[in-house]
Amino acid sequence: MKNDFGIKNQVLKTALEGYDMMGTDIFTPGAQELIYGRNMMLALKDYTDQSAIICGNLKGALIPGFRTHKIIEIDGKKILITSIIDKKLERKAIHGLKVEDPLSSLNQLLKIPHDLAIAVLHFSDKRARHFLRTASGIDIAILGTQRGVLRKNEVINNCMIIKNNNHGKTIGYLDWDFATAKATDNKLLSINKETYSADKKIVELVDQHEAWLRQHYIKIENSKSEKTDPAVATETPYVGNTKCVSCHSEITTSWKKTRHASAYATLQKKCKDFCPDCLPCHSTGSEEHGKKGFSSPSKTPHLFNVQCEECHGPARDHIKNPEGPYKNTINAGICINCHTTNTDPEFSFPEDRKLIAH
Ligand code: HEC
Ligand code: HEC
Ligand code: HEC
Ligand code: HEC
Repeated sequence: MKNDFGIKNQVLKTALEGYDMMGTDIFTPGAQELIYGRNMMLALKDYTDQSAIICGNLKGALIPGFRTHKIIEIDGKKILITSIIDKKLERKAIHGLKVEDPLSSLNQLLKIPHDLAIAVLHFSDKRARHFLRTASGIDIAILGTQRGVLRKNEVINNCMIIKNNNHGKTIGYLDWDFATAKATDNKLLSINKETYSADKKIVELVDQHEAWLRQHYIKIENSKSEKTDPAVATETPYVGNTKCVSCHSEITTSWKKTRHASAYATLQKKCKDFCPDCLPCHSTGSEEHGKKGFSSPSKTPHLFNVQCEECHGPARDHIKNPEGPYKNTINAGICINCHTTNTDPEFSFPEDRKLIAH
């Protein structure tokens, strides 16, 4: 492939193919794409037949095939859609991508006759709100690169805000009434497997994508383990749960009934068992969490799943000398390494702790 950006390439390819299948009208590159520069922007065109690639304030002439906006006509009404990137993000861009002044680019575009103007804003949350206070003429702003979700309706300077986020798990939904120029419904929709599993083509696309990722991580894994001399392989003070069962058999049986014991199987089902993004929380004592346990599937295969030592600490010394001191004060801090506001928004230490008690 002439432009190979590794995993990023594959993610974009799947995303754009998926958007096309869903009938999405536009795709608006943001900071994530900028950092890969002009070649990435050019590669985007290869992945989509339908979605127009829109950016209102990238120096257009540099990128053939990009458009600054799109006009969609519904019931005789002209809907102008564009996307604006924060000038501040230009410093992230490489290979000669230039971001033009957001406000003057927007004002230029708003001169095009329209009945409704929609702008996707690639700004931080705070800066998007600031921009909307200074810019007039946008009817609907779509935020999305920012963290978190929008839980109540928000209007700034006559502009209605909708937000897509939460790691792609939620999407903003809005019904617009042209007669009153107001939104009649504005809510968040959740996207999960149930939402898209009715569509065979999408399911197939997701399966292909996951299979690709798996192959990719296996390749990375293999190249890592070739370089690792077994003689200097990581020394870890984590011994693994098979070493506990002889003395704590009842507790081990009880632990096996919790989902902690099948956290790795969960990743396998998702074809993510080699995925460095997922493994730290679905394994024990991850190096990613500043601990000296799980480092990779090949080096530390005894540390898959959320085992005893994740909560109780490394047990190398304890199994040699069980009567000796071994840490056993467990507080919420241990859990929220993994039960974060993103992965488990409803996590409650007093309640959840009861569910794993032994
Ligand atoms: C050779 C037997 C033996 C093995 C193997 C063993 N333990 Fe223990 N463990 C003990 C004994 C004995 C105690 C102290 C019993 C007590 O105070 O009730 C203990 C206590 C503990 C405690 C409580 C510590 C405290 O201060 O209250 C934890 C937690 C623990 N073990 C975890 C583990 C884990 C995890 C493993 C496996 C990695 C493990 N043990 C392996 C024998 C063992
Ligand atoms: C290393 C990361 C990690 C830590 C630390 C962790 N968990 Fe979990 N926990 C997980 C994962 C991952 C799952 C889901 C596993 C799956 O379904 O594959 C989970 C699932 C659970 C569940 C659902 C269990 C069930 O059987 O239904 C509860 C409850 C829970 N954790 C409580 C806790 C508590 C309480 C703590 C702290 C004492 C804690 N967890 C610490 C990663 C962690
Ligand atoms: C920051 C820690 C963390 C990371 C990183 C993480 N998970 Fe999890 N995962 C959890 C916790 C905690 C739970 C349990 C949440 C609950 O009980 O609601 C969980 C549960 C799950 C579940 C079962 C629950 C469900 O929503 O169906 C799946 C599947 C899952 N994770 C897959 C993944 C995949 C795939 C990745 C990598 C893309 C990943 N996880 C990365 C912490 C994490
Ligand atoms: C998700 C975290 C978590 C995991 C995983 C976990 N434990 Fe515990 N364990 C706890 C908590 C919480 C307590 C209660 C201690 C406290 O309140 O500080 C506890 C208590 C214990 C005790 C003391 C029991 C007592 O009666 O005083 C032992 C022994 C123990 N665990 C062993 C194990 C072993 C062995 C495993 C693996 C098979 C394991 N634990 C897995 C969180 C965990």
